Amino acid sequence: HVTRREDYRPPDWLVPEIALDFDLDPAATRVKATLHVIRESAHDEPIRLDGGGQVPITVMVDGTPINDWRIEDETLVIPLSGSAHTIETEVEVAPERNTQLMGLYASGGNLCTQCEAEGFRRITFFPDRPDVLSRYKVRMTADKARFPVLLANGDPVDSGTLGDGRHWAEWHDPFPKPCYLFAMVAGDLVANRATFVTGSGREVALGIWVRAGDLSKTDHALEALKTAMAWDERVYGREYDLDVFNIVAVDDFNFGAMENKGLNIFNSRYVLADPDTATDYDFDAIAAVVAHEYFHNWSGNRVTCRDWFQLSLKEGFTVFRDQSFSADQGSAAVKRIEDVRGLRAAQFPEDAGPLAHPIRPDAYQEISNFYTATIYNKGAEVIRMMATMLGPKRFRAATDLYFERFDGTAATCEDFVACMEEAGGIDLGQFRLWYSQAGTPRVTASIEHDAGSGRAVLTLSQRTLPTPGEPDKAPMVLPLRLKLFGAETAKPIGPEQLVILTGAEERISFETVTQRPVLSINRGFSAPVIVETDRTAADLAFLSAHDDDPFARYEAMQQLMLDTLVAGANQGRANHQAVIDAIVNTLDDPQLDRAFVAEAVLLPSESFIGDQMPVVDPEAIFTAREALRRDIGHALDARWRAEYDAASATRFEYSPLAKGLRRLRTVALGYIAANGGDEAAALAFAQFEAADNMTDRQGALTTLVNGASDRRIAALDIFYNRYSDNALVLDKWFSTQALSPRDDTLATVQELAGHRDFTLANPNRARALVGAFSVNQRAFHSGNGAGYRFVTDQLIALDKLNPQTAAKLIPPLGRWRRFDAARGDLMRAELERIVGTPGLSKDMFEQASKSLEG
Ligand code: ARG
Ligand code: ZN
Repeated sequence: HVTRREDYRPPDWLVPEIALDFDLDPAATRVKATLHVIRESAHDEPIRLDGGGQVPITVMVDGTPINDWRIEDETLVIPLSGSAHTIETEVEVAPERNTQLMGLYASGGNLCTQCEAEGFRRITFFPDRPDVLSRYKVRMTADKARFPVLLANGDPVDSGTLGDGRHWAEWHDPFPKPCYLFAMVAGDLVANRATFVTGSGREVALGIWVRAGDLSKTDHALEALKTAMAWDERVYGREYDLDVFNIVAVDDFNFGAMENKGLNIFNSRYVLADPDTATDYDFDAIAAVVAHEYFHNWSGNRVTCRDWFQLSLKEGFTVFRDQSFSADQGSAAVKRIEDVRGLRAAQFPEDAGPLAHPIRPDAYQEISNFYTATIYNKGAEVIRMMATMLGPKRFRAATDLYFERFDGTAATCEDFVACMEEAGGIDLGQFRLWYSQAGTPRVTASIEHDAGSGRAVLTLSQRTLPTPGEPDKAPMVLPLRLKLFGAETAKPIGPEQLVILTGAEERISFETVTQRPVLSINRGFSAPVIVETDRTAADLAFLSAHDDDPFARYEAMQQLMLDTLVAGANQGRANHQAVIDAIVNTLDDPQLDRAFVAEAVLLPSESFIGDQMPVVDPEAIFTAREALRRDIGHALDARWRAEYDAASATRFEYSPLAKGLRRLRTVALGYIAANGGDEAAALAFAQFEAADNMTDRQGALTTLVNGASDRRIAALDIFYNRYSDNALVLDKWFSTQALSPRDDTLATVQELAGHRDFTLANPNRARALVGAFSVNQRAFHSGNGAGYRFVTDQLIALDKLNPQTAAKLIPPLGRWRRFDAARGDLMRAELERIVGTPGLSKDMFEQASKSLEG
């Protein structure tokens, strides 16, 4: 069954009020729902309440039990004669048997919910669509010893104790919301508490709720929350609107976190951190996700989505907001580099493959499959382009208008763009193509210079390759920040310009250019495109040393490395000297902060190299990359050791400066090891043992696990024994091994699947082994299809428990067109096996069948 955007119709019935009464028990929870429904406009349709397989125990209309209800495909259909009624239903659900982790489920002995996108229907019968907004009153009753804490959306209004060891609590949420934002939690939890006073003087009680043993790991998340609340007031003028804001950490969670009104529920990996167990990357990700979910209170909750085709309205915008927030906390350049690296790793391949879709899709079978890098990250880039074109003042005026005009409503992407146009004073007619057209535009740029006349002409052209269902592409609006540098003076020729390319081809002239110009283009990654230029290795080396935009500098270095690596993969060898020289220049530059240097000297990933080749050759790519790594290590051995020593801090500190040093230290260690033998392994092992933080410890472990030394076995055992009671650190133990470039990784991973700590029931663990392995390009594509078979076996097993998490792991198999025929056939055979599996979920069916066709 396919849902289409063009088929959208407003709801026939609205539900302005709902009261829920939960009698909680892991094995059998009773849910009584009282819905006040009103007929919307003149029609004689029955009310249709979505369900998730549960059978109503009773159905009452206006206080009287009725029998003329029916179930059609899990939907409860009730004929109604008047225009306003009260509907009461009672159902029973079994949280402890809910392995899908959608609806009400049990995790670590506690009960919690996840409703986005369509999980609420698995709790009670309801019109489960985001344009039905209701005021919620929630009452929970549970065993007091087992579930001492009872939380729900909104503000707590009352609670009490019952005679039979049970207790109850009632919460009211004054803000009308769609049911996907409903949440409740019952558990044995403790809170790290603080107060935040909003700009207008509201005192908000903050709480981060975790198991008692995890309390000491919650300070970072709490600090991030306060910082995010203040940031949204300052930058967007958005204040918090309830008296409480709670975050609950759970171990079993399908994705990162969820923005339920006043009660965010998080995957514990985005809450819990201390220096011994979390890396700098984890710390940063926690702050980003805490901010993201908090920012949803306005971009998502106060203004929600009309239908799920509009998902990027809240997700693209909120990702843009959290990226801007993180950029403000440390190095903006490094943050931008990380974001673009993520976009290239996940979104570009999606846009070039069988699952390509625009940021506002036109059709889906299962909406869960559309929580993608395209909707989130490309969506954020589209917002960023509008912000770039409007400039900060007008962009802020446009978001103010958007929040004011659509507060309390379910809006569309079109509504957002119209506000940008109105307050920004620009025409975004053609720009709207970004919402409807899939695929990554490719921009070609070449510059011709006539020294005699002093004229330089830049020719820009664009094209987007066909994607499934979209054979013909129109030119897009591409805001390109660019600047010319003089090849002799190494100084800018004129100021930076914002060129807005709208046609298939355009020429731009520059006068009085007296020396050869070198082009710096798409500075700051102002448009999410692939840029192809005729710049030589010397030009790229020049920009990597002289460009005054840090991102463009990084980019020139990456392009130089990429060209070298692709040549190496194609021809079996390449000249490495230009890359080595550029690395030395970068290391030598006293202006650059160490975090930036660490990013800039890092080689592009194997899969990104593969993306540049017509046919991906995993072995050739691996060999070329290892050869370059070894040469860089060898040529600069003394230099890496000096950087390594200079970056060795005395004591752990979480600051941008200290983070940069740690990052560079691990990068240096990697290069030392690429060149070194057992002595380098000894250095890594010493770091592993002496580390007072997880960044250094895991950096050393990774170096060992990737290497040939037997010390890796010892390190893995020590690491395992030290952290065997910490699920999040054990995930690292699994994923580090699954990501190793060693020849025996496939065998290791097959063995780890039988390890007593491996389980598909926990999404983090499944992703740590199966997900990590499937993005390890060389290992996944090794063994004559044994890698594909292993992943497919795991996904088929996982689908029986948790279709949503299983379906998310299909894309690596769907890339079969990018490989040689032998690999392609093997990959396709596994996709066929998935499609042919009896009882397959629609999540998996959609992803696998599209991957075969597309
Ligand atoms: N809205 C949540 C967030 O971005 C994620 C929800 C994901 N839902 C899903 N069905 N995959 O923060
Ligand atoms: Zn989100």
